[in-house]
Amino acid sequence: MERAKIYKKTLLIRSDDREGIRDCVHHLKDGEVIGFPTETVYGLGCDARNGEAVKKVFAAKGRPADNPLICHIGDKSQIKDIVSEITPMAQRLIDAFMPGPITLVMKKSDLISYETTAGLDTVGVRMPSHPAANRFLKEAGIPVAAPSANLSGRPSPTSSRSVMEDMDGYIYAVIDGGDSEFGLESTVVDCTGTDPVILRPGAVTKADIDAVLKSGEAVLAGSLKGSEAPRSPGMKYRHYAPYARVEIMKMPEGVEIKGDNASGPDGRTGRYEPVDLKKLTDDEAKELVNIASPFILRSREILSENPFARIGLYCGGEIKAMYGKLNDKILSAHTEFCVYGNTVDVASASHGLFEGLRFLDVQEVDVILAQGFDGDGLSVAYMNRLSKASGKKEDLTPGMPAPARPSRTPLPIDAFKDTVTASVLFVDDNNTSLSACCEILMRILLEKNEPYISDSSRDTGFEIYCESAGLTAMDGMDPDPDMDRAVKELTGRGLGSIESRRADPAVYDCNDLILTVRDEQAFAIIKAFPEIKDKVFSLSTFAAANGLVMKDSSGRVMSISVPDPSGENFETYLHTAKALNAWLELLFPYIIKDLGASRV
Ligand code: TXA
Ligand code: MG
Repeated sequence: MERAKIYKKTLLIRSDDREGIRDCVHHLKDGEVIGFPTETVYGLGCDARNGEAVKKVFAAKGRPADNPLICHIGDKSQIKDIVSEITPMAQRLIDAFMPGPITLVMKKSDLISYETTAGLDTVGVRMPSHPAANRFLKEAGIPVAAPSANLSGRPSPTSSRSVMEDMDGYIYAVIDGGDSEFGLESTVVDCTGTDPVILRPGAVTKADIDAVLKSGEAVLAGSLKGSEAPRSPGMKYRHYAPYARVEIMKMPEGVEIKGDNASGPDGRTGRYEPVDLKKLTDDEAKELVNIASPFILRSREILSENPFARIGLYCGGEIKAMYGKLNDKILSAHTEFCVYGNTVDVASASHGLFEGLRFLDVQEVDVILAQGFDGDGLSVAYMNRLSKASGKKEDLTPGMPAPARPSRTPLPIDAFKDTVTASVLFVDDNNTSLSACCEILMRILLEKNEPYISDSSRDTGFEIYCESAGLTAMDGMDPDPDMDRAVKELTGRGLGSIESRRADPAVYDCNDLILTVRDEQAFAIIKAFPEIKDKVFSLSTFAAANGLVMKDSSGRVMSISVPDPSGENFETYLHTAKALNAWLELLFPYIIKDLGASRV
């Protein structure tokens, strides 16, 4: 289905904005699509009785029309209107789990349009427990058909920002209700047969369901054979797929998992209590090494195949701490972490999974290594989503949109509690040509990749500055006109704003990373000021320090050499500017990592 923007900007409504919510309800009843928070993931809601409105949801998601939508209600009394029969088994499940993260598939009534159920005679009924969802649905008073608010095939959104990332311009408004509590979609249970069939595992586990049944037990849909599966049409489609390839790192046997009983007291906090590695007992330390080993071994294997690979880790805080202790600079330079909480806590891992996959995609990693869990409660739902995210692309249903690098929604820097800054300096001899070119190219890259957060704390914003100077420069000289023209031709922006200046200790002091164009220049700085040697590199030694080495056919390491075009024709300048741009694009993630920042 063709996906077309129909709004200039999707409205973002705060959940305590009564007027705004009323306006959303008005537009919902008028056939528009509204994004809203739930305790599982955000949904894209529309009037379930209105086939035309439902079509808009399919269009906004780019979703195949044979995959039915769930009907959301704000009050249990609505159930009798949207289903034709409530069996005693369904009633038990309603009493036990609604409102909450469960969807019950029952025979539909005439009220619900066939567009909502994709032609099926059954309908999925769900009553969310999220207070903002509940207020919105109560105020609407109509059955609201809603799939998860992601672009079809992408990880489900668990924050309003992720909904905006996928839906800005495609729907009327999004109601912001903070981060979703569970982070995985509801348990879908087919109640049309004698025994309940779990079509999609979720935070309400099989054990939870079995505990309230009078007789029999729930069947997991995966255990159905042949023509019977899949009973939930959604199961055959690619899901949750980030751009990067996903690999699951197995949890070693015998490790005690926390939060597997999602409805228990230790579930779904997402809170992280950092563990002091020094305080671990020998057994605990050994267990941690066993959990971390698959990550480390696999990462080294990937890097030995491709020294340019960038690896994302979806893992616990202890694993990140262990990497710190390993002190393998090259491994660390190629690793981007997304920490969900304590390593053994599957509730935190579930809570953060979809945002984590999106976050690591933004870091433009090639591979994501994600922690696996082998429990039989919430772990089943977590592994279900993670396995789909790691699904081989060639096994997927054709006709789905190819996963694209996500576009990113700008965040105002005041979205953060604190902001820290860092700066990178480019140095050459006279600061009128090559270093000025690097400064402008880097500024453009920095703007393109904004905003940034601190590596060590995700609520701390990070501003990155960039400047240039020359070892033998005179102050206040204009840039070389040919380089100015070359950069303008390449980027649309010239060197006009840059006046040359001499590099000196005061300039070095203000910068956290100093990159010279040529090796001799870095050596000269280090010779004069050995105390700053840890932050001074040439482009080529910085690349080498980050493991970015290319070897020629005889195995010799090739270094980055930038010729000086001065006195040559314009084409040589353009060639040089292009070469510098290519190098800076390659080095960019390593530069921001060196400064202590991540993209967000
Ligand atoms: O937690 C959730 O369930 C979220 C929030 C927004 O409520 N919604 C959600 O919707 O995940 P969606 O459309 O992304 O996934 C619904 C799943 C699909 O796999 C679909 O095939 C299945 O439920 N489903 C819906 N109606 C069904 C029906 N009548 N029979 C069988 N499966 C059904
Ligand atoms: Mg979905």
